[in-house]
Amino acid sequence: MQHILEELERRRQAARMGGGERRIAAQHARGKLTARERIELLLDPGSFEEVDMFVEHRCTEFGMAEQRIPGDGVVTGQGTINGRLVFVFSQDFTVFGGSLSEAHAEKICKIMDRAVRVGAPVIGLNDSGGARIQEGVASLAGYAEVFQRNVLASGVIPQISVIMGPCAGGAVYSPAMTDFIFMVRDTSYMFVTGPDVVKTVTNEVVTAEDLGGASVHTRKSGVADLAFDNDVQALHEVRRFFDFLPLNNRDEPPVRPTFDDPMREEPSLDTLVPSDPAKPYDMMEVILKVVDEGDFFELQKDYAKNIIIGFGRIEGRTVGIVANQPMVLAGCLDIAASVKAARFVRFCDCFNIPIVTFVDVPGFLPGTAQEHGGIIKHGAKLLFAYAEATVPKVTVITRKAYGGAYDVMSSKHLRGDVNYAWPTAEIAVMGPKGAVEIIFRDEKDDPEKIAQREREYRERFANPFVAARRGFVDDIIMPHGTRRRIVQSLRWLRTKKLENPWKKHDNLPL
Ligand code: HXC
Repeated sequence: MQHILEELERRRQAARMGGGERRIAAQHARGKLTARERIELLLDPGSFEEVDMFVEHRCTEFGMAEQRIPGDGVVTGQGTINGRLVFVFSQDFTVFGGSLSEAHAEKICKIMDRAVRVGAPVIGLNDSGGARIQEGVASLAGYAEVFQRNVLASGVIPQISVIMGPCAGGAVYSPAMTDFIFMVRDTSYMFVTGPDVVKTVTNEVVTAEDLGGASVHTRKSGVADLAFDNDVQALHEVRRFFDFLPLNNRDEPPVRPTFDDPMREEPSLDTLVPSDPAKPYDMMEVILKVVDEGDFFELQKDYAKNIIIGFGRIEGRTVGIVANQPMVLAGCLDIAASVKAARFVRFCDCFNIPIVTFVDVPGFLPGTAQEHGGIIKHGAKLLFAYAEATVPKVTVITRKAYGGAYDVMSSKHLRGDVNYAWPTAEIAVMGPKGAVEIIFRDEKDDPEKIAQREREYRERFANPFVAARRGFVDDIIMPHGTRRRIVQSLRWLRTKKLENPWKKHDNLPL
């Protein structure tokens, strides 16, 4: 018996060594942790239970029969993060460059199937040279099996991808279909075709970093949500992020104890909005002063900065926050901001997370770039997302809410449950200047008259009372009481029930 136990331990030890000491040292020399070290940092100590440690590939081509490494380049299993169940796969770059074989894919699929069956999120730690070249189409089939599961799991369990090394070719499409992508600066990149192919086809010379590094995807493409400095920081932040999420689409968002007084008032908010409507202010201040303990997990913070998205908590319960940012493009909605916020609103709606929206939006961004880029279709995504969302929706208009953008930003007309306005709110078809220029076109050469008309328009329309008279805003609230009012709204909304008509699925303007 003893020798069997020893044999088991010997085999386990061999599997734990992955591609061997030399390759582990090379991984460390790059500033990267190994697949197992990453799992250890991600999960609660001692909680990881590995499966399929002894799985090997079945390839016999190119001398592969002699190169079998138990585990086949991916470590899979389940564990907990702060006591809550999560399934994990972590690609091991020390084994055939973390490349995906048929067996490697089967391991990932197994834990994805289990995660869906029991209703727990999947976190994928990606570090891979892509399709296992020696396996050819079997590897492609493996990818497609993973893709299919990504799609079926979408909206059922949260799926998180952390890119911690190469992620190239069609391999990028698995993370792309997950809910959130985090990257590590300098050591990770994602692209569909690498620098060599780009050079051949377009004659462009570009480095992997400039083509698809963390900076590109968090600032330019919007593919990734956040970038972190190193593996340790990334995994630590993923733990923090995970705490905001429900485990599945039938679960409620987690509740954490909070010491923040739900009735806390913030007098500084009363003077936040400048008296000059053309002057910006930082909407982030409102968010930080409203959420519990000022703890806000912002997503895509370097992309489409004219809109803010992220998770906070109110009375210990997760809320999704969407807010126009007047500091950037005056808070206008453009293509990037619409798509960014739409996807976030849809995630919240999938997973029963109430949405709190702070509005200061002068309208959609004008210009040929926007029109030719399809702002009509892309702006419609955000409108669509808010309109179909059935989770509790609380909206606070802090200043401008003009035109179509007023309608879009979780207005009463899109089934906003509670719509508040600060006394500084201006809710109208357009700003006073634009309105007067159109209505009083024949007086345009008389600046005094025009100024007078603008003053009249502002008094009559650029205020919250016109909308309040019609019940389009439920109340005009003092800014210092915003947290209290949101708390009270979300309390009674906890039992909200609203269902959309049955359909196979909708046809979001893609
Ligand atoms: C098999 C691979 C591999 C792969 C790397 N390795 N990629 N083995 N299949 N795709 C092996 C290497 O042979 C090497 O083995 C070890 O992993 C480490 O690779 P290095 O090249 O030494 O590492 P590095 O210099 O850091 O370069 C990493 C890399 C490079 C940039 C990822 O390895 C590379 O370009 N690999 C090929 C990438 C690729 O073309 N993949 C297919 C993409 S198409 P030893 O034994 O020396 O340690 C694709 C389609 C997916 O993925 C379609 C889905 C629908």
